[in-house]
Amino acid sequence: MFSAVAAVAKTGARDAVSYLSQEPVAETDAYYRGRLAAEAAGQALYRIPAIRSARKPPEPALRSLGVAVPERDQKKDAERGLEHGRGIAAGTALTRDLANLPANVCTPSYLAQKARELARDYRSVKVQVLDESELKRLKMGAFLSVTAGTEEPAKLIVIRYQGAAPRQAPVALVGKGVTFDTGGISLKQPVGMDEMKFDMTGAASVFGALKAAADIGLPVNLVGIVPACENMPGGRATKPGDIVRSMSGQTIEVINTDAEGRLILCDALTYARRFKPAVVVDIATLTGACVIALGAHTSAVMSNDDDLAAEIEEAGRRAEDRAWHMPMAEEYHEQLKSNFADFTNSCGREGGAITAACFLAKFTEGLRWAHVDIAGTAYLTGAQKGSTGRPVPMLVDFLIHRR
Ligand code: BES
Ligand code: MN
Ligand code: ZN
Repeated sequence: MFSAVAAVAKTGARDAVSYLSQEPVAETDAYYRGRLAAEAAGQALYRIPAIRSARKPPEPALRSLGVAVPERDQKKDAERGLEHGRGIAAGTALTRDLANLPANVCTPSYLAQKARELARDYRSVKVQVLDESELKRLKMGAFLSVTAGTEEPAKLIVIRYQGAAPRQAPVALVGKGVTFDTGGISLKQPVGMDEMKFDMTGAASVFGALKAAADIGLPVNLVGIVPACENMPGGRATKPGDIVRSMSGQTIEVINTDAEGRLILCDALTYARRFKPAVVVDIATLTGACVIALGAHTSAVMSNDDDLAAEIEEAGRRAEDRAWHMPMAEEYHEQLKSNFADFTNSCGREGGAITAACFLAKFTEGLRWAHVDIAGTAYLTGAQKGSTGRPVPMLVDFLIHRR
């Protein structure tokens, strides 16, 4: 479908109808054929926001895409699928745009401004941005320790979408928004460091999922929580061995300043409690270990609730945006022991994606919580370098199938 739309787009045609959707494919129905067709079209027509001196290439002329269905009684389902697919494609394009931008453009303040634009575009969306003085008042010592080395002000961005009755408990989506990850004092190697502009893809996917939900008008309540900052070395930067106090009151020995994602997420997860969420899902490019474990094709899910993990896996399968449930157990927590604080932020390389999740689990007791590590799936490297827009399709499918 992707290739078909890419080919049609080259012809300059304005309208197209696909008959590919008539081919019988096992385990799909008219709804998914419509939806996945629209999503694939969105992917094929996507252009990276160009920051070039030459004039922009012309926009693709293709304006409308239909899908043919073999039986009249499938028409309604296919139409609903197209409609949802259009919303998901719009959300995915926002995620890709934000993630593809360089870190000197896409700063925490820029993300805050983009959130305000969402609130302007959809009446169902409201935005609140907390600045560093408010983060101090909330005692978010872990989050603030990551932003200590940079001049760029950190933001906590809170986006609410109301699609259901106000009393219905929201789904909280928490996204890692490190707009650039140098590693801090535990500085990363130069090779491939440019890719750490993608370290805010969790945040971007929260934006994308919220946009899709608002666009489709999904009957759910959502709260997106995005801690956004840079991780930089500097005279005031956090040093290995420093001990910080998280908003939860638990203290953390920062063994490695490059394990910064969990430090901003833990305070955001604590903050999520005030919304009394039905479930909390955090999304983060959290560990290199996840890339080693699952590669570029599958995200990792870890959860304190096996049913929730299964729900997310199923959503990933239906949306063709797969995730795999990895274990979390008491034994792994051993690795986070500290002689100086309640626990450390980093330990050996073994099971690195799991021990990162175990760290977050210390902040989500009593919540129905899942963590999605997208370090391998968020972006492509090499000649195809760029954001994939994942896991927006999976997240939106999860929201569509809630309850
Ligand atoms: N943002 C990185 C994780 C990452 C690595 C994402 C490669 C995408 C590709 C994260 O902040 C990080 O640096 N994690 C460390 C953790 C370690 C120090 C415990 C890692 O994975 O090496
Ligand atoms: Mn890091
Ligand atoms: Zn990072």
